[in-house]
Amino acid sequence: MDNNKDIYILGIESSCDETAAAVVKNGREVLSNAISSQIDIHTLYGGVVPEIASRKHLERVNQVIKEGLDKAGKTIDDIDAIAVTYGPGLVGALLVGVSAAKALAFSSGKPLVGVHHIEGHISANLIENKELEPPFLCLVVSGGHTHLVVVKDYGEYEILGRTYDDAAGEAFDKVARAIGLGYPGGPKIDKLSKEGNKDAIKFPRAKVVGHKFDFSFSGLKSAVLNYLNQAEMKGETINKADVAASFQEAVVDVLSTHLCEAAFETGIKKVALAGGVASNKTLRDRVEKLCKENGFEFYVPSPILCTDNAAMIASCGYFEYIKGVRSGWDLNACPNLKLGEKNYD
Ligand code: KG4
Ligand code: ZN
Repeated sequence: MDNNKDIYILGIESSCDETAAAVVKNGREVLSNAISSQIDIHTLYGGVVPEIASRKHLERVNQVIKEGLDKAGKTIDDIDAIAVTYGPGLVGALLVGVSAAKALAFSSGKPLVGVHHIEGHISANLIENKELEPPFLCLVVSGGHTHLVVVKDYGEYEILGRTYDDAAGEAFDKVARAIGLGYPGGPKIDKLSKEGNKDAIKFPRAKVVGHKFDFSFSGLKSAVLNYLNQAEMKGETINKADVAASFQEAVVDVLSTHLCEAAFETGIKKVALAGGVASNKTLRDRVEKLCKENGFEFYVPSPILCTDNAAMIASCGYFEYIKGVRSGWDLNACPNLKLGEKNYD
């Protein structure tokens, strides 16, 4: 491979409720980042309806890919490889992106690179922090995942902790629904919390005995539901902003404390956030503050690169591509793909 040649990767993402396509140069420079969100339709149902998600991806995928190429000022001929999310995620949703990527790769003769969605989230940090190199610590907090990870090298991960039950984003979504904010809960709780008192209600901070870097959020969710039920039974008016702020504080407290303890224990002084929940203002500010106090470098992508997007998939795909990773024509959707697992069956 000519080492001086610029490499352009087209990324495609369809694992949940965003259809996205992006062109990224040399893994770190975003030329386009097209995203078509389905939030409006899923909001009507209070959460993502998998079958609707698949159908919406099918309707939108070709236009979004065209938009990704057009906005970058590129055609498929300029692209070196096509990177696509093949798991984890909703199987029907993943199949749309994988099928579109395979058809495009096949017809254009370009290589295909399957990308792990969570690895993509982690890679979002490499885009805006050109100097960031592994090893670094990353807390990945999304709607489906909560992983505390050592990024040992490009594509090499060690999981220090994970959630036993609900993911952090899932907890935000469920609590938001309980207090009548609707879907998606994270951004709505983030906003409402600004008007509330984070110390108004003392919600529990769960610890997993014997596994200090693991998380558990279902007890917290139940505590919020109990609080709401009891207030209702007593005929008390609920201050939604206080509930939102106190719940958010409990989540942020646990996430930021685990992340800092992991930095102390591993001696890794580069600390990053990733995933949809990483766009939460309080979490970003808290981890930044803790990093400053303890002399750690802090990294977090812009909010648009925290929630699902294809630029992160193209970035991750680039680092796989230059290592020689290629997927076969038999690449399939893997809804339960584990982090660090390469599964092209
Ligand atoms: O990474 P993402 O876009 O999709 C998955 O891979 O799951 O994450 C979506 C999750 C949702 O649960 C959403 O409520 C949460 O991220 N989220 C937030 C915020 N923005 C999105 N949670 C807290 N605060 C936010 N500002
Ligand atoms: Zn995601």
